[in-house]
Amino acid sequence: MNRVNAEPEHLPVMLEETLRCLAPRPGETMLDGTLGLGGHAAEILSRLSPGGELMGLDRDPEALALAAKRLDGVGGAYRLLHGTFDRVGELLKELEISSDGAFDGLLLDLGVSSMQLDRAERGFSFRNDGPLDMRMDRGEEESAASWLAQAPVEEIARVIRRYGEEPQAGKIARAIDRGRREQPITTTAELSSLIEELVPRRGKKIHPATKTFQAIRIAVNRELDCLRDALEKLDRYMKPGGRVVVLSYHSLEDRLVKTVFRDRVREGLFISHPDGLQRPTQTEVQSNPRSRSARLRAVVRAGEAGSST
Ligand SMILES: C[S@@+](CC[C@H](N)C(=O)[O-])C[C@H]1O[C@@H](n2cnc3c(N)ncnc32)[C@H](O)[C@@H]1O
Repeated sequence: MNRVNAEPEHLPVMLEETLRCLAPRPGETMLDGTLGLGGHAAEILSRLSPGGELMGLDRDPEALALAAKRLDGVGGAYRLLHGTFDRVGELLKELEISSDGAFDGLLLDLGVSSMQLDRAERGFSFRNDGPLDMRMDRGEEESAASWLAQAPVEEIARVIRRYGEEPQAGKIARAIDRGRREQPITTTAELSSLIEELVPRRGKKIHPATKTFQAIRIAVNRELDCLRDALEKLDRYMKPGGRVVVLSYHSLEDRLVKTVFRDRVREGLFISHPDGLQRPTQTEVQSNPRSRSARLRAVVRAGEAGSST
């Protein structure tokens, strides 16, 4: 299909399961901290009316603009916030709204959207040649190309090993270092062909550049730091009885979510959600391969709904 003029699409992953766990009701306030194209948010918003409000946050201004169109079509009260989800407290404070006990529900659907991946100019994908950018917010300073140009080779190896769980990290980092001495690596095709020459496909299903691209994206966007910081503050944001749902797509994210949720449950700040760990159904994976690696985790803020503890 020619996608040039097509509206960007992103099929919301595990939508039914997410809605069941979040259980949005009229009059409630919920935060979608990874609004994307508003697929989950549109369904949540339609369940919060009358009287409720959806706050939709994303670090990508292009996503916010596209999501707004979708949410306008739903009707109901919503507010958009631009920034990273670990800063929701500060962003609300700028609007003179307190984030303490602000939400009955909070969703984080981590990673990148199909729109970000599909648009070559965003530089996330080795499948579409484009500038090696990878910033979810193009207003932020450091693109993948500028990071790769100046990071010490040991740092590049560490990032690829840690965030890509790539066994060939050292070899790839040294090849990047040799390559950048000849000429700066500025496109996704340059980076992926450099890796492909080094680590041949040999019939493997996944492209040899997959893990390296994932690793550089995580580093450039400080994805795990943002997630850790946000998870640490969750108990402050949630009302008693408030539901938190996180969808993660690789083991590093999921491990972090699992550990923080387990610790908060042990401390008595949250209780386990009865449907607190789920994977997508086979049917969903077949119709939306992007959902393949998804894991849903959910917890509930301790305390009686309607009380202040
Ligand atoms: C998987 S998509 C969300 C898709 C969305 N649930 C939908 O149905 O359309 C993830 C979105 O989260 C945003 N994002 C990722 N990390 C973020 C962070 N730390 N703070 C804010 N937004 C973030 C990305 O820009 C992207 O738009």
